[in-house]
Amino acid sequence: MRKTQVGIVGAGPAGLFLAHLLRKAGVEAVVLEARTREYLETSPHRIRAGVLEWGTREMVARAGVGDRMVQEGLGHGGIYLAFDGQLLHLDFHALAGRGIWVYGQQYLVTDMIRHHLEAGGEILFSHEVVGVEDLEEAPTLVYCTPDGRLEELRCEFAVGADGSHSLARKSIPGIQVHQKTYPYAWLGILAQTRPAAEELIYASHPRGFALFSMRSPTLARNYLQVAPEERLEAWPDERIWEELDLRLSGVAEVQPGPILEKSLTPMRSLVVEPMQHGRFFLVGDAAHVVPPTGAKGMNLAFCDVAVLYRALVAFYNEGEASLLARYTQEALRHVWQAELFSYWMTTLLHTAADPFEDRLREAKLRHLGESLHLQRFLAENYVGLHTSGRYTHYIPQST
Ligand code: DHB
Repeated sequence: MRKTQVGIVGAGPAGLFLAHLLRKAGVEAVVLEARTREYLETSPHRIRAGVLEWGTREMVARAGVGDRMVQEGLGHGGIYLAFDGQLLHLDFHALAGRGIWVYGQQYLVTDMIRHHLEAGGEILFSHEVVGVEDLEEAPTLVYCTPDGRLEELRCEFAVGADGSHSLARKSIPGIQVHQKTYPYAWLGILAQTRPAAEELIYASHPRGFALFSMRSPTLARNYLQVAPEERLEAWPDERIWEELDLRLSGVAEVQPGPILEKSLTPMRSLVVEPMQHGRFFLVGDAAHVVPPTGAKGMNLAFCDVAVLYRALVAFYNEGEASLLARYTQEALRHVWQAELFSYWMTTLLHTAADPFEDRLREAKLRHLGESLHLQRFLAENYVGLHTSGRYTHYIPQST
């Protein structure tokens, strides 16, 4: 049977960042990933989040994996809100003293895989974990090799970083799941055309919410609120462009172009408690899911990793186990802060079926337009002062 210090299930942003940090701190980690490297790096279904809080960008840069992120990402100083036929700019630097960084999740995953492998780290692709055993004493990951054999990796600690449909999560006895679903979904497109504006536009319209984002000055990433049971076949390209244009109400202009990818994203909130059991820990979407409206999902994964990394290093370097014992307690603070903000942004911007609720929502939007306090609440949360902003110093500066 193979042995290692830290066994990690999943080569997503959380698993890769943790593996990279541990290797630099002299702790051995092995990452087991069900998919192939090519799938993670190039599958169109992997087009995911694109907004990094300033603290996430800082952590990635400090860890020494941010070279391409800094070169090719886009710095944004704020966002636009479109409602009542007007465009409101929120200047994050003025409101919260920080900005954000736009860089696609799968680019960051590609960068971290490259850095980790080049530095001698180990990622076993096409190795699916099918069981997690003995969590209290010597957590053991049971996995299937590409040729179909079942093998075991015995670990000093194991980490479930296997995403929102986590299998690892199910192995925690007595785990509590707090969750909420929303009566809408997002239809997302990636299109070869210039974005609607130089910064993101979050548009609230009587026909539904729309978001205008980007991946580069020539790649637009846009989303439409649709019914949860919607089918992609109902949305030919012309209908998507027409609807995006209608929901912008003339405050900016969409430029139709070739659509490279279309996808549907369900909306839900989920938090599990506790995020640990014995010598086993959950990070990222395996422990919590947010609706995408606040752009918090990937940022939360980096927060969890920062907290767990500091605790593991304290254990290995100083024999100090108290930070590990407090992992769930510390992580739930940033998790619930982000759940609150994601819920707030989602319910503020999406049309509700109940007319009373919808009028209240419009009143809230108008209040936001006039209240610097509410704008500051949005800006502080969006740039992540209370999430990744708390942890940048947990990550040692690379030399
Ligand atoms: C993107 C996604 C989001 O959920 C969001 O709030 C902002 C931007 C994006 O994919 O670019």
